[in-house]
Amino acid sequence: MVRKMSDSAIIAELEPIAERNLNRHLSVTTDWNPHDYVPWDRGRNFAMLGGQEWAEENSQLSAVAKAAMITNLLTEDNLPSYHRQAGAYFSMDGAWGTWVGRWTAEENRHGIVIRDYLLVARGVDPVALEQARMEHVTNGFGPTEEEEEQHKTDFLLSIAYVTFQELATRVSHRNTGKVCNDPVADRMLQRVAADENLHMMFYRNMCGAALELAPDQALEAVASVVENFRMPGQGMPNFRRNGVLMAKHGIYDPRQHLDEVVKPVLRKWRIFERDDFTSQGEQRREQLAEFLEGLGRQVIKFEEQRDRLLAREAKKAEAQAV
Ligand SMILES: [Fe+2]
Ligand SMILES: [Fe+2]
Repeated sequence: MVRKMSDSAIIAELEPIAERNLNRHLSVTTDWNPHDYVPWDRGRNFAMLGGQEWAEENSQLSAVAKAAMITNLLTEDNLPSYHRQAGAYFSMDGAWGTWVGRWTAEENRHGIVIRDYLLVARGVDPVALEQARMEHVTNGFGPTEEEEEQHKTDFLLSIAYVTFQELATRVSHRNTGKVCNDPVADRMLQRVAADENLHMMFYRNMCGAALELAPDQALEAVASVVENFRMPGQGMPNFRRNGVLMAKHGIYDPRQHLDEVVKPVLRKWRIFERDDFTSQGEQRREQLAEFLEGLGRQVIKFEEQRDRLLAREAKKAEAQAV
């Protein structure tokens, strides 16, 4: 029986690795300015300053692009919640503390640039957006009671979760850029997505180091995160509706989740090749493998349903056009 390491012991053991990865991050990251990515010449005043209120026809964005932009932006806006959690589950001392501060400042940039773009380009209703932001930030990040219980005591769950979550936001921002039908938006979201990738790498390296340090314990956290994964926007207005729309149009769908987020990370950690798990760990790995097979079947089912739905919609649109 392997002795379980405490969170504080793991955090302390990983401190030198956190420092190395923080320095690595700082050496590869590019400093960029949100204002450079915003098409200011498209902007004009709203009614209070003598201009016009936003109207639906102002927006060049499709319904899908709007839903994706709003979901991604509100997720970025909810940063105070994530900062709170990172401070509580990681550590505010030493390299960990520097990382949490640096990461928070970078994430804030994402919210700034996306909001500036949307307001200047009149991409979405600014009043509805502000109401949604107020509601979402007031509620904060909403883990279930069960998750809250687990997260409170498990550093490993948090580090595993953010690895997948950063990669998921990378995919989501990247694909949102593609559906905006505006090269300015696409370039901006490519910039944001590149940041998310670097964040993912920090967390992936830390979780990888945790797997070396406490293989069974870290595997348990990884498996549990994969089996219960959900995007952080729970509690956001229209979260479900927008999520369905995003999945339907390939911004973030089950196939992308499995093939572009879950599998590459598990591969990087060599989860299915490692020989440092105990027999208990190996059993847990078996369970995870079964879960992934089930997920693979769900992906196929989802795609079949989506194909049928899109075909029906296309037929309907064709009939209406005649
Ligand atoms: Fe972000
Ligand atoms: Fe990020």
